[in-house]
Amino acid sequence: MPSLDMDNTPPPDPAVGSEPAVQVIDVYKSFGEVHALRGVGFTATRGSVLGILGPNGAGKTTTIKILSTLLRPDSGTATVAGHDVVHNPAAVRRSIMMTGQYAALDENLSGRENLELFGRLMGLSKKAARRRADTLLEEFDLVSAGRRAVGGYSGGMRRRVDIACGLVVRPEVVFLDEPTTGLDPRSRQGVWNLVNALKQQGITVLLTTQYLEEADVLSDNIIVIDRGTVIAEGTADELKEKTGGSYCEIVPLDPSKVRAALDALGELAPETVRADPSADRISIPAPDGAATLSEALRRLDAAGVELADIGLRRPSLDDVFLSITGHSGGQQ
Ligand SMILES: Nc1ncnc2c1ncn2[C@@H]1O[C@H](COP(=O)(O)OP(=O)(O)OP(=O)(O)O)[C@@H](O)[C@H]1O
Ligand SMILES: [Mg+2]
Repeated sequence: MPSLDMDNTPPPDPAVGSEPAVQVIDVYKSFGEVHALRGVGFTATRGSVLGILGPNGAGKTTTIKILSTLLRPDSGTATVAGHDVVHNPAAVRRSIMMTGQYAALDENLSGRENLELFGRLMGLSKKAARRRADTLLEEFDLVSAGRRAVGGYSGGMRRRVDIACGLVVRPEVVFLDEPTTGLDPRSRQGVWNLVNALKQQGITVLLTTQYLEEADVLSDNIIVIDRGTVIAEGTADELKEKTGGSYCEIVPLDPSKVRAALDALGELAPETVRADPSADRISIPAPDGAATLSEALRRLDAAGVELADIGLRRPSLDDVFLSITGHSGGQQ
């Protein structure tokens, strides 16, 4: 993806120094009886991509809505680009861009006209708005579609125009709440490229996603939210490390032989694995890598357990997610 040419850089903001782009301290938010956030806290350094993961209802969208001033926290503090979300919401709004915010694209106008209109609304001159629209259409691979009415766009194209509208004026921080949900792989790749382009521009990105691989690839840091608090944070590698190193995964040819395989493995299979022999495969820790694998193979062979598959695996972010939240990854 070509670099985003942000030629409408706002004047330097005295409130923006070396402090984090986003800082959240002990934020609570309830909706009646539902305690959506219970002391959430984290920071995002400037120019970094922070992945926000968590099961359904964890509080991810609530957090993002508070940071983008669409909701007020009950208590705690949050700053975006150095501005307090409660005391200076107007300054926060000037510093951010959200997808979905401009979902009210005019269906009858073309992509280009929507972008120009948005530029004018943001105070650009007619000429500047047109120039900016041209640049963005090119960057978002929409030049050929730019003259057609948005009403006839595919979901992926619509998402791109939507995001482009938010970049008419360069933001400090961008919130992307599940930006690729429901997109086909090609459009998803387009959004990934966008995230990287934003990062290259020094723009901070907060990204929630139900695709853990996406968080793995794009994020500098990841926080995992569950039941309204942050339960883990670190780089994808650090989180994987905490979950435990490599695994050995064993799939008996006959699923009813899982119990027999566990007996053959003996102490190689920890209690937690033995306690739940319902699955058709067994994952055991492989602290010694290939040596663990060959020992497991020797024992299974001796016990006459035939295998469909056996192999060493590094934990994926899905494994991390499962082990720390007790839920399988992303949407369940
Ligand atoms: N406006 C609201 N009124 C009442 N309850 C709400 C409201 N918004 C969110 N909630 C509740 O707050 C909790 C957190 O919701 P939130 O949307 O932040 O979760 P999420 O992590 O974004 O989930 P998902 O992965 O499904 O998008 C949920 O229990 C949700 O039902
Ligand atoms: Mg959500």
